[in-house]
Amino acid sequence: MPKHPLIAGNWKMHGLREAIPEVLAIDAASRSARASVAIFPPSTLLCPMREALADSPVRLGGQDCHTEPLGAFTGDLSAEMLKDAGADMVILGHSERRHGHKEACEGVAAKTRAALRAGLEPIICIGETLDQRQEGLTHAVLSKQLRDSLPETLEGQTFHVAYEPVWAIGTGHVPTDDQVVDAMLLIQKHLAKRFHNQVVPHTLYGGSVKPDNARHLLTLDGVDGLLVGGASLKAADFNRIIAAAD
Ligand code: PGA
Repeated sequence: MPKHPLIAGNWKMHGLREAIPEVLAIDAASRSARASVAIFPPSTLLCPMREALADSPVRLGGQDCHTEPLGAFTGDLSAEMLKDAGADMVILGHSERRHGHKEACEGVAAKTRAALRAGLEPIICIGETLDQRQEGLTHAVLSKQLRDSLPETLEGQTFHVAYEPVWAIGTGHVPTDDQVVDAMLLIQKHLAKRFHNQVVPHTLYGGSVKPDNARHLLTLDGVDGLLVGGASLKAADFNRIIAAAD
């Protein structure tokens, strides 16, 4: 396990203002935690959370951003807007964007450049579908996603990569230890070959992370953080995941 694992909570399209007490309880646990903690709420909660977390170690991030800083793009948010609302990170290329919104790797790379332009630290997600794994395509898919979603401009920048097998997200199915380690090492090899960053990227695992499996996942080779969906919505669960990194 690395010195400071990154535990990131992706709230997806969940959370109203009444959820602020949850984030205050997460803040309380984060103050004595070994892990760095980040929450990615819906964008509507960035401002109120930033205010509520004024002097907190908990970082905030967006769940997506547009490539342009401003313009006639109804319904979209730019990286600069997320930054202005209190984010300093952003998740890009999540499978729910790649599949639900037909985002291609090249678009993810363009969004990553936009995030860096605005001073946001990106977490870029990759992962294979069940069909791709069953057809023996996992390595090919992950390598292509890494090659095409990570722009050269990441050289020298702080960023992170999350391995999230699509079939593990929200399903309760977690890959075997060997499957996780195999993917993490592929990612780390790719990153070491292409980038020479002072801040070594965290490689995160995501997909059905729960309080009961977090500690074990964090012991696996190459896993230096977790991207948590459903189990990040309640402080009672998420704080146990944060504590698993102690
Ligand atoms: P899950 O989601 O933890 O609910 O499986 C993970 C994610 O999509 O980031």
